[in-house]
Amino acid sequence: MILVTGGAGFIGSNFVLEWCKRQANQGDERLLVLDCLTYAGNLENLAQVSEEGRFDGRVLFSRVDIRDQAAMAALETEFTPRAIVHFAAESHVDRSIHGPQVFVETNVLGTLNLLQWGRKLQDIVGDRFRFLHVSTDEVYGSLQPSDPAFSESTPYAPNSPYSASKAASDHLVRAWHHSFGLNTLTTNCSNNYGPFQFPEKLIPLLITRAIEGKKLPIYGDGLNVRDWLFVTDHCDGILSVLEKGRTGEVYNIGGDSERTNLAVVEAVCLILDQLRPKPSGSYRDQIEFVRDRPGHDRRYAINAAKIRDELGWAPAESFDSGLIKTVKWYLEHPQWVERVKTGAYREWLDKQYAVVDRSGSNTASNL
Ligand code: NAD
Ligand code: DAU
Repeated sequence: MILVTGGAGFIGSNFVLEWCKRQANQGDERLLVLDCLTYAGNLENLAQVSEEGRFDGRVLFSRVDIRDQAAMAALETEFTPRAIVHFAAESHVDRSIHGPQVFVETNVLGTLNLLQWGRKLQDIVGDRFRFLHVSTDEVYGSLQPSDPAFSESTPYAPNSPYSASKAASDHLVRAWHHSFGLNTLTTNCSNNYGPFQFPEKLIPLLITRAIEGKKLPIYGDGLNVRDWLFVTDHCDGILSVLEKGRTGEVYNIGGDSERTNLAVVEAVCLILDQLRPKPSGSYRDQIEFVRDRPGHDRRYAINAAKIRDELGWAPAESFDSGLIKTVKWYLEHPQWVERVKTGAYREWLDKQYAVVDRSGSNTASNL
């Protein structure tokens, strides 16, 4: 069994679905998804591997908060996964500026709790145990236009509470490898986009607001640059590192697709103009420049040579092909968007969990 933390979030749920697709052809190893279901965690993302709220045999789900040591200890008595793939985190930079506390609690202390469990698991499972920590390119700070892309040896220089908390967790992972011999792997990835991304992040925010006729807010001058990667390419990279990565190593993952935010919003508008034309004018007319994000990093870019050369990984999607898939997905799933925006899925969750909560357990194996 493999433990996936944060498996109901954006990248985690794509990872679970991708894993199940591959397992259908290859084997019968199960996944234990651990997620406390914050506003960003949505079990509906896993509907393809569950029916009417019940997961099929491939996936177990446990609603646990990685900050909660007692709940984690209870899990330890029940499960012995041979690997941990750790996605769970508070992930939104703007939220971290408004409220940094939970970022330190979840991203740093939550990771600490998992690392401690990882040591016990490695004692039981032996040398094949793996702890794969999913991190971000934001730990490397901000690049000038002519700077070389981030490599695995770029010094850390986090600038937001979010990136500082992720950097701290990366350092813990490194230390647990060096001091305790834990078989760790760390991936630092660039900006993801694709299905199931919560519409607080740039690309889904633009798509969903555009079709509602709302303004498309672009921070500052719109010339900040991000390196975009389609989410299933990220999941594929994580699987490569899990299977073939050298323990103790760091692997950068990126799409080699640097775009200014202005180029991103224009690309989204162009696709929407083609797929869902407005009665008159273009979606571009809705673009509005707004106050900049405090401490806004200017540019991120990833040098993915190591994972490409060592593990043979390369993205399957270009920015254009991935973006068309993404826009189509949001257009075809208006109910998902509606439920996420109104928080309706959370009401469903409360109802669903009332039974579990009444029975006194929050470890809802095969919910
Ligand atoms: P997300 O916010 O969509 O999902 C995070 C998930 O973690 C949610 O399901 C949430 O319920 C869960 N979670 C949060 N706090 C928890 C806690 N205390 N206990 C248990 N579960 C908890 O995030 P995402 O975009 O899917 O990112 C996943 C990981 O990938 C994060 O570690 C993030 O730093 C990293 N990452 C994200 C990107 C990106 O572009 N989104 C890029 C590189 C790295
Ligand atoms: O680089 C990887 C990181 O990418 C991940 O670690 C984070 O979890 C993920 O949230 C993302 O961080 P960003 O801050 O780059 O993503 P976000 O979608 O919030 O913003 C992307 C760019 O768009 C950034 O330059 C800010 C800008 N932006 C964002 C929003 C929400 C706007 O101009 N307007 C907006 O309304």
